[in-house]
Amino acid sequence: MIENKNIVLCVTGSIAAYKSIYLASSLVKENANVQVIMTEAALEFVGEASFSGITHNPVITGYYDRKSKLGIDHIDIAKKADLIVVAPATANSIAKIALGISSEPIVGTILASKAPVLIAPAMDGDMYNSTQVQNNLKVLENLSVKISGPEKGRLASGIEEFGRMTEPDKLLSEIEKIFSKKKDYNNIKAIVTAGGTIEEIDPVRFISNKSSGKMGIAIAEALRDRGAKVTLIHGNLSDNSIIGVEKISIKSAEDMTNEIQNRVNYFDLIIMSAAVADYKIKNKFNQKIKKEDISHLELERNPDILKSIDGSKIIKVGFAAETENLIENAKKKLSTKDCKLIVANDITLPGSGFGSDENKATLVHNKGCEDLPLMKKSELAHKILDKTKSFIK
Ligand code: C5P
Repeated sequence: MIENKNIVLCVTGSIAAYKSIYLASSLVKENANVQVIMTEAALEFVGEASFSGITHNPVITGYYDRKSKLGIDHIDIAKKADLIVVAPATANSIAKIALGISSEPIVGTILASKAPVLIAPAMDGDMYNSTQVQNNLKVLENLSVKISGPEKGRLASGIEEFGRMTEPDKLLSEIEKIFSKKKDYNNIKAIVTAGGTIEEIDPVRFISNKSSGKMGIAIAEALRDRGAKVTLIHGNLSDNSIIGVEKISIKSAEDMTNEIQNRVNYFDLIIMSAAVADYKIKNKFNQKIKKEDISHLELERNPDILKSIDGSKIIKVGFAAETENLIENAKKKLSTKDCKLIVANDITLPGSGFGSDENKATLVHNKGCEDLPLMKKSELAHKILDKTKSFIK
């Protein structure tokens, strides 16, 4: 499961740091590429040489180590990471991650990465039960950080309490579980649409929208990682660097309709996250219109692509980007467009929607609504796929 995965192991200053040597070794035995980052406090408990010897990678201990190719270690590590594990996670590191205090490279890496984060708290029982630590853990949970443990047992002080770091073998199986999920779309052929369409007015001007395509790309990546064969039909994208999927670039809603209609019979699933223009110019102008010659534009409806696809032959997932009556509108779309799932998001919420790396969505299906917290689009993509999987026989 974890072969060739880039796993960042962040070790902070707790006696449990010695267990992370065993964890690093277990990950390496499974052929993961392990990059260790240590805080200064962690170096008081275990040595850098233990980790570099086991992982065959230089250990990062400060912002200015400059051990990576890029010369900016935390950014280099962040971008390559498939998973970031903080084990042990002290009260101090938990607080810093929760607040984004990036005074050392562990927090800097987490902030700069889109990879999921797993933390294994380790500390005295009363510290763990303190309001501050509990509040910070709640913040992390809301950021979709996975929290493992702590377990109850004998602590360094001699008392029996909750505060022991999850044992490395258990952490290893939790890590494997994070990756194992990602093969449940083997043999599935999926169309994903992303970005905004363009409706030309004349050779110079057009009508479009604010879609960045980030949500669609995150879905295409998640499907690819979970084993699906993906065709991404896209309009304007803010980042076109996705690999491992078939990419088809289109301009107008009509182009998108044609590309989808040509393929739809050969696919199992379509996820339409594209912001398709509802209208196009009735008679597109072949020459640039002179400003004196125009007072209004005549529009005509574009086809509703999602609605036109036969929902008995393919699983259909749609989006509803709304500014009001979110759930009501999403439910309407679920039935009128004959979808299995509508991903509803209120684009007026701060940090959510167009252009952002995060999104807050409600999954609307015929069994009800699931309200999800604000999370990275990459995380949300997996949540959408977890739900969609239940509709695929
Ligand atoms: O009706 P509304 O545009 O809000 O529906 C949004 C959903 O329908 C999205 O999944 C979008 O990709 C899809 N759509 C479509 N064809 C259109 C307009 C929207 O397939 N012309």
